[in-house]
Amino acid sequence: MNQSLVEPKVERTAAIRKCQSERRKRLKTLTIEVDKETHAKIKMLAEMKQTTLQALISNNLKSMVDASSDFPPRPWSVFDSLRDESECKRTHVSLFSGCGGVDLGFRQAGFRTVFSNDIDPDACSTYRANLGEIVNGDIHTITPPKLTEKLDVLTAGFPCQPFSNAGSRKGTKDERGTLYQTALKFIEELKPRAVVFENVRGLLSFKTEEKLLIEEICEHLDSLGYDVVFSLVDASKHNVPQKRLRVFIVGIERNENRGKFSFPAAVERDDLSLKHTILDLEPNALNQSELMQLNPQAISIGSMVPEGGSWKSIPYEKLPERLKKIADNMRKYRWPNFYRRFHRDEIAGTITAAFKPENAGVWHPIEQRVFSVREIARIQSFPDWFGFEGKSIKSKYQQIGNAVPPRLAYELALQINKCLSGEDIQSETDSLTFEQFVNTGKPLRACDRDVVFSPKKI
Ligand SMILES: C[S@@+](CC[C@H](N)C(=O)[O-])C[C@H]1O[C@@H](n2cnc3c(N)ncnc32)[C@H](O)[C@@H]1O
Repeated sequence: MNQSLVEPKVERTAAIRKCQSERRKRLKTLTIEVDKETHAKIKMLAEMKQTTLQALISNNLKSMVDASSDFPPRPWSVFDSLRDESECKRTHVSLFSGCGGVDLGFRQAGFRTVFSNDIDPDACSTYRANLGEIVNGDIHTITPPKLTEKLDVLTAGFPCQPFSNAGSRKGTKDERGTLYQTALKFIEELKPRAVVFENVRGLLSFKTEEKLLIEEICEHLDSLGYDVVFSLVDASKHNVPQKRLRVFIVGIERNENRGKFSFPAAVERDDLSLKHTILDLEPNALNQSELMQLNPQAISIGSMVPEGGSWKSIPYEKLPERLKKIADNMRKYRWPNFYRRFHRDEIAGTITAAFKPENAGVWHPIEQRVFSVREIARIQSFPDWFGFEGKSIKSKYQQIGNAVPPRLAYELALQINKCLSGEDIQSETDSLTFEQFVNTGKPLRACDRDVVFSPKKI
C-alpha cells in the first residue's frame, strides 16, 4: 500500500483519539435515573433534534445551571469580554503599569490607555499578551507622551517596597521612594483631569525630614490644581475575594465642570470565600499547573497545618529548632502568623509579591501545596483568560502580587468617570479633614472614612 495514503489516516485517527481523550478529561460523569416514560420522551426529542441523548441532556442541564440566579456572578465576570478600545470615550496614561491590573479595570470602565510603562520585561510581556502595547523601560529615562487631546486620568502605582513593613522602610531615601516625584513630573506636563496613586498602608505613617509623606504628596497635587482625597481601602469590600489594604490617593482637577469625588461605598458579598473563588478550577485552566517549588522542610511544616490554622496549630515538639526559638519568645517576634492556611470558608489574605510559604497565607485550604499562579490570579480578581507570561513562576507570582486587583480598579474607575462627568458623589460616611486624620492619633481604618485634604493656611 502507498505509504503516503496510510500516514495521514493514522495521524488523523491519533489526533481524533487525543481530542476525545482530552474531552473526556474535561468531563465529569453524572448518573441520573428517570422513569420509563420520560426516558422515551427524551430519546424521541434527541432523535428529532438529530443529536445524541447525552448531548441533549448535558446541554439542557448546562443552560439550566447558567441561567440560575442561585449563582451570583463571579467577581471577575465583569471582564468576561474585554471592552473594545474604540468604545472607550475617556483616555488614560498608566505609569508603573506592571502586568496591567489597573489598566484592565480602567479599560472595562471605558478608559482607553494611550500610554503605559514598566521597567520589568516579564510584566510587559504579560501586558502585551492581554492588553496591548506598553513601553518597557526605566521611567527616569522616559519622556511623557505627546497627546493630541486633553488627558482624562493618569494612574501611578509607584513601587511600594520602600514604605511596606515587609520592605526596608528607607522610604524616600531609597531611590525607589522618589519615583512618585517622577510621576508628579508627568502630571505637570500632561495636566490630566484626574490622577490616582496607589500604595501600601505604610505610606500613611511614613515621615520625610519635615512632615508626613502623604501630606507632601497631597500638597504637591493641591499646588498643581487638584482637589485631593485619600482613603485606606479594603479590596474585599469592593467585590475582590481578598483582604487587601491599600492607600489610594485621588486628585480631581479643580474645575466647575467636575463633581465632588468620594471613594465607592463598601459592599458586603457572601461569595468571596476561597471555596467560591478557587475550588472549581480545572487542572487545565491557564497557569493552573504553575506552582512554586518548596523545599522539603517547608512542605513538611505546611502539611502539618490544618485548614484554618497556622504554625501555632502544630505541636511544639514537631516544630523545627528555628521556629521553636520564635515560639519561646513570641513577644519579641511580635506573634508572627507563619504558615497561615486559610479555611475554605474564609476570604483569602493579602497576596504579596514576595509569596513566601512562611510569611503569607499562601497555602491551599485543602491540598498539601501553595496556591498556583491561576489561583492567586483569581484571588486578585483577574479573569481566567488573562494569562501570565515570564521567565519563571516566581516572576508570575510577583507580577500578580504587585497588581491592583482589576475589579477594585474597575469600581474606582466608574466612580472617577461619574465625577469627570460632573456628578457629585456623596460619601456614605462623614469624611475626615487632614487635621482630624493627623490629630486623632489613631491609624486610619480600612473603608472607614475618606480624608479630604486642604493645605495649611500660613
Ligand atoms: C506596585 S507595582 C504596580 C502594579 C500595577 N499598577 C498593576 O496594577 O498591575 C509597581 C511597578 O513599578 C515598576 N517599576 C519599578 N521601578 C520602576 C522604574 N524605575 N521605572 C518604571 N517602572 C518601575 C515595577 O516593575 C512594578 O511593576
